[in-house]
Amino acid sequence: MEIGTIGAGDFAQAFAKRALKAGHKVKLSNSRGPDSLREIVDQLGPGAMAATKEEAAACEMVLLAVPWDNVPETLASLPKWKNQILIDGTNPFHGQAGNFTPAAVGNLSTSQLVAALAPGARVVKALNNMTVPNFGADPVVNGARRVAFISADDDGAKKRVETLLKAFGYSVVDLGNLRDGGLIQQAGGPLAGRDFLERGES
Ligand SMILES: NC(=O)c1ccc[n+]([C@@H]2O[C@H](COP(=O)([O-])OP(=O)(O)OC[C@H]3O[C@@H](n4cnc5c(N)ncnc54)[C@H](OP(=O)(O)O)[C@@H]3O)[C@@H](O)[C@H]2O)c1
Repeated sequence: MEIGTIGAGDFAQAFAKRALKAGHKVKLSNSRGPDSLREIVDQLGPGAMAATKEEAAACEMVLLAVPWDNVPETLASLPKWKNQILIDGTNPFHGQAGNFTPAAVGNLSTSQLVAALAPGARVVKALNNMTVPNFGADPVVNGARRVAFISADDDGAKKRVETLLKAFGYSVVDLGNLRDGGLIQQAGGPLAGRDFLERGES
């Protein structure tokens, strides 16, 4: 399948490596356009493509991987969603990677906010609690599988993302809907940044 990324920074590139390894094609996009992504896609290798945001968002599955402060303007800049699955990998921090401060979101499930800003998209919260070094490392550690968490209101979309993440090599744990699961897995919640391993088949 072709998977789009909105954002092409550290997190999106770690995602792209996993997706390419699992046999998918990845269209990466950012705010500056495809020409700024040539070196990145060359490094990622065959199957990685530099795209516009519109091209990336048109894929059947799309990763949202922009800084939290940029989420509203980014989603507002995209064409209408037509039932694509939108994997929300964002976390509520102000600032850029390396210089984060937690954003005050109260008791809000930030993926519900993402869903409200992306009507027509089937939003699945996933991978946000995985740090880039862990994402880049082998999903299997001493025979145990790294755990990836997912939450969504759309069961069909959640199942599709579960299948993708299992193909990446992860053990997948379903945390329920966007409200309850989102609060558990987003930054500020109990799972944020943690690295869990599961032994045995998943
Ligand atoms: N780093 C991690 O360990 C990690 C782990 C899990 C989740 N996350 C989450 O993933 C998101 C991205 O983190 P990151 O570490 O990858 O950040 P990053 O390295 O700073 O990359 C951010 C990317 O977002 C793009 N971007 C910004 N505004 C945009 C817009 N309006 N339209 C399209 N693209 C836009 C940037 O493109 P330009 O360069 O063109 O502006 C850049 O490619 C954050 O929400 C973060 O919380 C990060």
